[in-house]
Amino acid sequence: MTRILAIETSCDETAAAVVQDGRRILSNRVASQIAMHRRFGGVFPEVASRQHVLAIQTVVGDALAEAGVDRVADLGAIAVTHGPGLAGSLLVGVNAAKGLAFASGRPLIPVNHLEGHIYSNWVDTADNPGAVDEFPVLVLIVSGGHTQLVLMTGHGEYRLLGRTLDDAAGEAFDKVARLLELGYPGGPAIQKASAGVTTGRFSLPRPLMQRGEHRFNFSYSGLKTAVLNLTRQLEKEGIDPREPTTAAEIAAEFQAAAVEVLVEKTADASQEYNARQVCICGGVSANRALRVAAQVRCAELGIPLHIPAFPLCTDNAAMIGAAAFFRQQGVGLAAFRNLGVDVHASLPLPTH
Ligand code: KG4
Ligand code: ZN
Repeated sequence: MTRILAIETSCDETAAAVVQDGRRILSNRVASQIAMHRRFGGVFPEVASRQHVLAIQTVVGDALAEAGVDRVADLGAIAVTHGPGLAGSLLVGVNAAKGLAFASGRPLIPVNHLEGHIYSNWVDTADNPGAVDEFPVLVLIVSGGHTQLVLMTGHGEYRLLGRTLDDAAGEAFDKVARLLELGYPGGPAIQKASAGVTTGRFSLPRPLMQRGEHRFNFSYSGLKTAVLNLTRQLEKEGIDPREPTTAAEIAAEFQAAAVEVLVEKTADASQEYNARQVCICGGVSANRALRVAAQVRCAELGIPLHIPAFPLCTDNAAMIGAAAFFRQQGVGLAAFRNLGVDVHASLPLPTH
């Protein structure tokens, strides 16, 4: 049995978790800064690092207590996100993890945040019984900073099939929500506004749906601009695009367009590469319309689909603990004796 304490502070959540053997959550604590950043309409880096400093000790202490871990030295290892993310925020988590690893003599496993999102699907929960070790797995990562289609050919083996050429999907949700004055963070706000909409009053483009060179790439800035142009057009016609009913109708069409592109490209890629499972992860995977559409499409194709339980979609530390477990599985914990872990703000997913 290997229990790993994981720490995640790459953006605006201070998170700590204890995960057993990569799949079982013993505790999963998240202190969210959303309320703090709401008044800026986005994450304010200096505020984020300060909040991490204030919260980290309590969050780690609570995670250990809830998991029944009396001494850090009883753990198999400490894992921590070392990138990508906000440098100042990452540093708080990395320093805390280094301190714990040094004091306890336990190994320190640096984890790529994107790899963490991928492994959120290996965690066993009531909603999602965890992906099985059958490859290739087609992975769609959709978060506030990333939109990528990845073919996973084994644990830790990734091939990049496509990515966004401009904005990430979550970023587009956030920007459109801001434009329509629906609130922050944008993804849940758009989802909420769209919920009651049944009419198709507006129509927005489905960017990069065509075949060819960019088949598995994404582009969201065009869709965002289309929403902007639509609001301007409405204003010219004397219609207020921020009036709640109209804003909800625009939001619903934006969500439908964004979701359709994500699901169709994922489904296409799963067929092209004979994937045995599909995994969707990252903050946007919390979106209900996306979850339903992906379920329908994967059922049609007869391919097993994994989407994490809601608390594991957005940033959390359980996914970091899961990724760390599978990372050390091949090489052993003893390979992680180096405490000289640095932060890398733009660390890419290691693809080939
Ligand atoms: O993975 P995450 O927590 O942080 C990053 O690594 O970026 O993702 C945050 C993103 C935000 O853009 C947020 O608006 C989006 O995930 N998001 C959603 C939903 N919940 C969060 N997007 C659409 N629908 C949701 N329900
Ligand atoms: Zn994330």
